[in-house]
Amino acid sequence: MKVAIDGPSGVGKSTLAKAIANEFNLIYLDTGAMYRMIGLYFLENNLDYECKEEVIKNLRNIHIDLVIDNGIKLLLNGRDVESLIRTHEVAGISSILAQQKEVREKLTALQKDIASKYNVVMDGRDIASNIIPDADVKLYLEADAIVRTKRRMKELEIPSKEFDFIYNKILERDKQDLNREFDPLCIVQDAIVVNTDNMNFEQVKQKVFEIIKSKIAG
Ligand code: DC
Repeated sequence: MKVAIDGPSGVGKSTLAKAIANEFNLIYLDTGAMYRMIGLYFLENNLDYECKEEVIKNLRNIHIDLVIDNGIKLLLNGRDVESLIRTHEVAGISSILAQQKEVREKLTALQKDIASKYNVVMDGRDIASNIIPDADVKLYLEADAIVRTKRRMKELEIPSKEFDFIYNKILERDKQDLNREFDPLCIVQDAIVVNTDNMNFEQVKQKVFEIIKSKIAG
C-alpha cells in the first residue's frame, strides 16, 4: 500500500500524512524534511548554496539515514535535527537547493529505495510524478496562498503584522517549486485533487480516509 501526497507549501500535507500513516498503519516519510536537512547543512557550515560546484562538492559529506524504531526518524550525519529545520531560513535555502539536479538525484534515489521496501505514505512535490508513480492513491492538496498563509501563521502563532512577509515567502516558494527545471510540482493525470480552502482539517481527513478506503475496497 503506497500513498502519494503532493502540493504546495503550507497546504497541510504533513499533518494529513501523519494521520493517514496512523490510520492505515503505514510508514510516513516527509521528503521535504530531507531537502531541509541539506539546507541546514549549508546554513550551519556557511556554504554557498547557489554555487553548483560548491553544492556538488559538499553533497558527498551529507548523509541522511532513516531509523525505524517505534515510528521513523531521519538523521543528518547521525544527528536528530528535526527542531532546527522548520525555520523560514532553512525552507528558503532548501527550496533553492531543490532546484539542483545533483541534490534531487541524491534524495530521490533514497526516497525511491524506501518506497520500494515499505508500505508508505510520502509527501512532497514530486511523489506521484517521480518517486512512486505506481502509488495506490495519489492525492494533490491545494489551497489558496492567502488561506495557507493564515493557517501557517495560526499554527506557528505568528503576529498578524507579519502577514505580508509570510505571504510573500509562500508565493516565492510556490514560484520556485512550480517553475524549476527538474521534477517541478505538478498534478499528475490520475491524481485526486482536494481543494481545502473551505474545509477544516477534520473534514479533509474524513474525505481522504474515504478515498483511501474506497481504493482498498477495490
Ligand atoms: O515540504 P517542505 O516545505 O518541507 O519542503 C521544503 C522544500 O523542499 C520545498 O520548497 C521544495 C523542496 N521539496 C522538493 O523539491 N521535493 C519534495 N519531494 C519535497 C520538498
